[in-house]
Amino acid sequence: MIVLGIETSCDDSAAALVAGGQLLASVVSSQDAVHGPYGGVVPELASRQHIRNLLPVVDQALRRASLTLADVEGIAATRGPGLVGSLLVGLALAKGIAQRRHLRLVGVNHLEGHLLAVNLERPVDDPVPLPFLGLIVSGGHTGLHLARRAGEYACLGRTRDDAVGEAFDKAAKLLGLGYPGGPAIQRAAAGGDPRAIRFPRARVKRSRFDFSFSGCKTALRLHLAGGRPSATALPDVAASIQEALVDMLVETTVEALLATAVERLVVAGGVAANQRLRSRMTEAAAALGVEVLFPRPELCTDNAAMIALAGTPRLLGGTDDGLALAADADLPFGFAWTG
Ligand code: KG4
Ligand code: ZN
Repeated sequence: MIVLGIETSCDDSAAALVAGGQLLASVVSSQDAVHGPYGGVVPELASRQHIRNLLPVVDQALRRASLTLADVEGIAATRGPGLVGSLLVGLALAKGIAQRRHLRLVGVNHLEGHLLAVNLERPVDDPVPLPFLGLIVSGGHTGLHLARRAGEYACLGRTRDDAVGEAFDKAAKLLGLGYPGGPAIQRAAAGGDPRAIRFPRARVKRSRFDFSFSGCKTALRLHLAGGRPSATALPDVAASIQEALVDMLVETTVEALLATAVERLVVAGGVAANQRLRSRMTEAAAALGVEVLFPRPELCTDNAAMIALAGTPRLLGGTDDGLALAADADLPFGFAWTG
């Protein structure tokens, strides 16, 4: 089945074509240049950009796959969580195409998309075996999820305040490094000493799988004392703040691996593109005999291929969410984990 995926949950306008779980084409139009001057995503500007970008992005994906809309057999669009204005643009286009072409349409949870992106690089008949633990680390979300059976997820913990990508972005803003902050901090950290400055590592007391990252930016602000590090001091500061964020992710994930006793860990979302996180998590998982899988960096950040893939089983099963499909900015993902 050829599925058109549409993703507009935040600031990337994305479309993709996936056939029977195999990636044919994926196009992502970034809005970084629009939001860059603000150091973070401006919701109203994001939805206006989606209106401008989305149709050309869908056309480009079809061209790259050498297909036309007449070849599309089903549509999967992100329905949440995310910025409501942005989500509405994607859903409106998805519904328009579905109605005009008499196609089934399913709404997809953005977080399920991130978790399943790793399967886009595997043979269709060899997805990551279940159960696995998923760590989703992006600009809007940070959480640990247990994928038990197909379509069945439990949430072990999530951030109590900032998402880890947001922490990278805010730290980069304080350091004058621009937006998006994660890649900028990674670049600035090259050659720096991750142990140069000991930024605090927060633990959430009563909930051992939850995260808290907002203290990091406060600690950095206090360290900078209103100034900016010199060019020679910057690599150490960037490497140290990156290390603090990575440490918190690794420690909590290791605890969750021990508690769930699963054999596989999937790390997904924009921050999973971070090289330091990739190497530290690989080491920590190896010490526990756990296999760790990361999508390649372009599939870690927001894209519509993961949405098309996540929607495919429901489309194949005959589901049609139809025109009643509603955006949900706070769409929950998975039930609470009870051990
Ligand atoms: O998954 P994503 O594209 O969008 C959301 O769903 O939020 O994640 C974007 C986030 C941004 O905060 C960005 O700074 C971060 O991912 N990011 C990184 C890296 N690449 C992107 N953070 C750390 N290191 C990277 N290499
Ligand atoms: Zn995302």
